[in-house]
This record gives sequence, structure tokens and C-alpha cells, in this order.
Amino acid sequence: MKQVKSISSLREQLATVRQSGKKIALVPTMGNLHAGHLSLVNEVKPKADFIVVSLFVNPTQFVEGEDFDSYPRTLASDIQSLENLDVDLVFIPNSSEIYPDGNEIDTQVSVPELESIYCGKFRPGHFQGVATVVSKLFNIVQPDLAIFGIKDYQQLLVIRRLVKNLNFPIDIIGSATVREKDGLAMSSRNQYLSETEREKAPLLYKCICEMANAINNGNDNYAKLEENAVATLVNAGFKPEYISVCDSETLKAPNNQKLVIIAAVWLGNARLIDNVAVQH
Ligand code: PAJ
Repeated sequence: MKQVKSISSLREQLATVRQSGKKIALVPTMGNLHAGHLSLVNEVKPKADFIVVSLFVNPTQFVEGEDFDSYPRTLASDIQSLENLDVDLVFIPNSSEIYPDGNEIDTQVSVPELESIYCGKFRPGHFQGVATVVSKLFNIVQPDLAIFGIKDYQQLLVIRRLVKNLNFPIDIIGSATVREKDGLAMSSRNQYLSETEREKAPLLYKCICEMANAINNGNDNYAKLEENAVATLVNAGFKPEYISVCDSETLKAPNNQKLVIIAAVWLGNARLIDNVAVQH
């Protein structure tokens, strides 16, 4: 597996790969790889001839006061995991390679409608940071396809929207959420949970699955379902930011059959997000 730090070296190496007619896939990550990240690599493998994984803790998607400094960085074990999966190239830029003029770059990619609601409302500027760095990675790597987790549902929609609107010739694949045995969605931030919080954490997924079942059984009082889930979680010590039934493509109020229940809650120092699709 090649380990590449600079954009110029990456471009040189990928030019040869491209010339040989190989299909290139990009798996963007912030490292601290767990089974959820590794499932993206496994899913994309049969669809491409050359797999690039990027490891970059992107400073511009962390809002003031968030966990940028304490975000877990585990480079050596990440590289080992990717080697074990036969990844072709790992791109590990440092911040000045991606942001040579500092983090306040004066060109930003924005998806205004999607970035101002739900997670975007609670983390102002977050999705602009994601959209900008992902666009930069797309331009640097120029992959034929790229894969993202459905776990970060709003992020996936933001990326699909920017790819469409900016005409990136890249197929975007959404990949199923990998969960712990008790249902908790895997996340690098789960390690911020204390032992007792970790035991409670699966309640989030349980609550949104129960909402999905109720909707499937004909209950369309979404406001009441949301209210009940919030109450259950608050009683158990969670601090919900939002739990919402919405249109799965726009995240607006439901107006067709394709719904998604999205949720973000705090439990201790961990901000947990999750979602389930509802087709009824
Ligand atoms: P990160 O949180 O490291 O996640 C990298 C990719 O792994 C994302 O596409 C995310 O949705 C996916 N992922 C995370 N947990 C998952 C799980 N339990 N099951 C399946 N997939 C999972 O998301 C980011 O990094 C960044 O915002 C990034 C897109 C790299 C831009 O900086």
C-alpha cells in the first residue's frame, strides 16, 4: 500500500493508474478507523480497480468549541487496518497541504438549504466545511466513484447535492450503517461515553426503530411520535437536539412515501447521531 502525503505526488501516481484504464474509488475518512469505515472499503472493492482512502481530520468542519483537538488520532493502527484490506493507496495530507493559506479559505462550497437545518443548525458552518473539503478531495483524487456512510445521513445528502449541482463526474454510493451488537451505530465518538452511558446508548436506535414500526403500522401522528421519543430519551438522561420524521430526499416535512427518521442527541460528552429509513 502506498502512503502519500502531498497532492503533487498523489496526482503523479494516480495519473499512471488512470492511464492504465483503472477505475478509481475514494473513501474519505477522518481516521480512527472502525468496522464502519472498513465496511466502506469492502463494499467499494468489487466496484473499482484502485482504492484510495484519505485520512484527514478536517479542521474546517469542527465548530468553535468542538472536539477538533481531542478527536482520536490513531494513524499507525489505521494504516495497519488498511494494509490488511489491500487498499492501494492511503492519502494522509497535513493541514497545510489542504489549507496552505490557513483554515479561513476564501472559497467555500455551500449547500445552503441542507446545511442550515438539523445538524447544520446545531453545528453552524459544519456542512460548509464538509462540502468544501470533500470537493477539494474530489478535485485532488478525481475518483470515478466515492463512498459514504448512510449513518451520516444529512452529510450524504449534502454530498449528493453538491455532486449534482457542481457536475462532478463521480458516482456516489451510500453504504449501510454498521452497528455494535446492541444496535448502537459505530462511531469514533462512542469512546467519549462512560461505561454507564455506553450501556444506555442503544436506546437511541431502539427509540427510532420503534417510531419506524409505529409508522409502518399506520401511525401518521409524527409530531406525537417525536415528542414521545424525546421524552423517553430525556428520562433516560439523554439531551436530544432533534428527533424528526422527514422526507428522505429533502429532509423537509414528509410529503411522500419515502421517509427517514433522523436524530441527534447528547449523552454525556458524546454527540450521537443515527437514522432509520421508513418506506410505508
Ligand atoms: P468520518 O466520521 O471519519 O467518517 C468517514 C466515513 O465513514 C463517512 O462516510 C461516514 O458516514 C462513514 N461511517 C462512519 N461511521 C459509520 C458506520 N457506523 N457505518 C457505516 N459507515 C460509517 O464523515 C467524515 O469522516 C467526514 O465528514 C468526511 C466525509 C471524511 C469529510 O471530512
